[in-house]
Amino acid sequence: MSERVAIFDTTLRDGEQSPGCSMNLEEKLRMARQLDALGVDVIEAGFAIASEDDFAAVREVARLCRRPIVASLCRTTREDIERAWEALADAARPRIHTFIATSDIHLQYKLQKTREEVLEMSRQAVRLAKSFTDDVEFSAEDATRSDLDYLVEVITAVIDEGATVVNIPDTVGYTIPAEYTHIIQTLKQRVPNINKAVISVHCHNDLGLGVANSLAAVAAGARQIECTINGIGERAGNASLEEIVMALRVRKDLMPYENGIVTEELFRSSQALSNITGVHVQPNKAIVGKNAFAHEAGIHQHGVLKNRITYEIMTPESVGVKTNSIVLGKHSGRHALNKKYEEMGYTLSRPELDKAYKLFTKLADQKKEIFEEDLMAILQDGIAQIPERFKLRAVQATAGTSTMATALVTLADTNTDEIATNTAAGDGPVNAVYEAIDKITGLKGNLIDYTVRSITRGTDAVGEVFAHVEFDGVSYTGKAASTDIVDASARAYLNAVNKALYAKERKKASAGDQMPATAAAD
Ligand code: KIV
Ligand code: ZN
Repeated sequence: MSERVAIFDTTLRDGEQSPGCSMNLEEKLRMARQLDALGVDVIEAGFAIASEDDFAAVREVARLCRRPIVASLCRTTREDIERAWEALADAARPRIHTFIATSDIHLQYKLQKTREEVLEMSRQAVRLAKSFTDDVEFSAEDATRSDLDYLVEVITAVIDEGATVVNIPDTVGYTIPAEYTHIIQTLKQRVPNINKAVISVHCHNDLGLGVANSLAAVAAGARQIECTINGIGERAGNASLEEIVMALRVRKDLMPYENGIVTEELFRSSQALSNITGVHVQPNKAIVGKNAFAHEAGIHQHGVLKNRITYEIMTPESVGVKTNSIVLGKHSGRHALNKKYEEMGYTLSRPELDKAYKLFTKLADQKKEIFEEDLMAILQDGIAQIPERFKLRAVQATAGTSTMATALVTLADTNTDEIATNTAAGDGPVNAVYEAIDKITGLKGNLIDYTVRSITRGTDAVGEVFAHVEFDGVSYTGKAASTDIVDASARAYLNAVNKALYAKERKKASAGDQMPATAAAD
C-alpha cells in the first residue's frame, strides 16, 4: 500500500496575511467549511494571539470543523502557547503549532538570541505545548537558510520533547528542489529520533518554486505539505494546494502517495476564496484558472475532439470544473434550489433558504439561465452574516462625456428605521454614488481598489463588484453582484460600510477584555 501525505491548509493563516486577502470571521468560517468538504487533513485557522479576530477564528473554526485537525500558530513564549490552547479548547482534534527562527540571519537581526538560547526556547515551548495536547507541531522558521548541523540539533531536541510534526519551512522561498531534497534527506539520516515525528514542508513561492520544492521534499521523505488555496500567502504566496494535489494525482506513477483531497472540490474551493477576498486568479493559473482547460489553437481543438488525451493530462471534471453548468431556470422551485445548494456543499437554514430563494426568483426574472456561479453569488452576496445597518433603497446615477457625473442615493438605516436621501457629484457615476453614501452614513471611506467583472455568461450576465475601502486606516472588502453595475457598485460599497460598522461594534463589545500584543509571521 502506498504511503499517505497529509495536506495542511494554511489559507486562513499564512494566506490571510497577504495583502487584500483579509477575511472576517464569517468569511473564515465559510472558507473553513469548504476546506472541510475538500478533505484537508489540517486547517490552520489563525494565529490566536495576533488579534481578537484571529482568536475568534481559531475558536469558531475548531467548534465548526470536527473532522480535520484544527491548528493555531504561536511563537515559543508561554503567553502565546497558552493563548493558542485557549482558542483550541473546544476542538475535537487540536494542534498547537509553535515556531521560532533557526537561521543565523534571524537569530542575529530579528531575535537577537544565541543558538543556545533558541534551542532552549524551542525545547521549553514544545514541553509546555505538550502539557496541553499530544499533537504538537514545531516549525524551524527560515530552516532552509539555517546551518544544517544546528537544524539537526534543534529538530532532535524538539522531537525529544514530544513534537509529533517537525516543519522545515522555506520561509523566504529561497531553496531549490535539489537543495531541499538534501536538507530533508540529511534530517532523515542524522536526526536519531526522526521516526517519532512526521516531517512537514512549508514553501513560499518567491522564486516560483513552491510546488516543485514541496514535491521534491515528499520524494525525500516529508509526509505533510503545508499549502494554500490559489497559492495565496505572504509576498509571492505559498505553494498552491490545487497544483500540489493534482501533480500527485496526475503523476501517481512517479509519486505513489495517497492523500484525502476530494479533487472535484478544488475549483469550488478556489472560487469560494476568490469570491470572499475579491482576489481572482490569473486566467492561465494551473488547475483553477479560467483558461486551464480552454483549447484555443485549431490543431489542439481537433486533437481534443478526437481524443481528449491528446492535449489534456487531466479532465476538467476531475477538479470540479463543469463543462455544462446551466443548473436552474425561472421555473425551478425552492426544493430544487435547496437540493442544488446541497450538491454544491452548502446546507442552508430555513431563513437562509427563504432569503436565497427570494434573490433567486428576482434574478431568474432578469436572466433566463442560472449558473452555479450565480447561485454562489447569491450565497456570498445575499445571505452573508454581517448585519446590514444600512440598506440600499434606491440609486440613480447619470454620466456622460460632457456632463458632470451625479448620483442620487436613498438608504434605510435599520438601527433607527429612518430613510435618508442625498445627492453628490463625482469623477464618475460610481464615485458620485460613493460620495452620496458617505454623506448619508457620515463615514468617510477611502476607496483603495475597485474591480468589476462578469461572473456569468451572456449579455444579461451578472456583474460582480469588489470594493476595497478603508475606514480609519482599516481596509474592508465589500462585494455585491447584480445585472446592473451601478446597483452592484453601491451595494458593494455599503457592504464594506456595514463590515466596518460591525467591526467597530465588536471591538466596543470586547473593549473591557485584555487585548493581546499583536504578532505576525510568514
Ligand atoms: O513561512 C514560515 O516560516 C511560516 C512559519 C510560521 C511556519 O509561516
Ligand atoms: Zn509561511
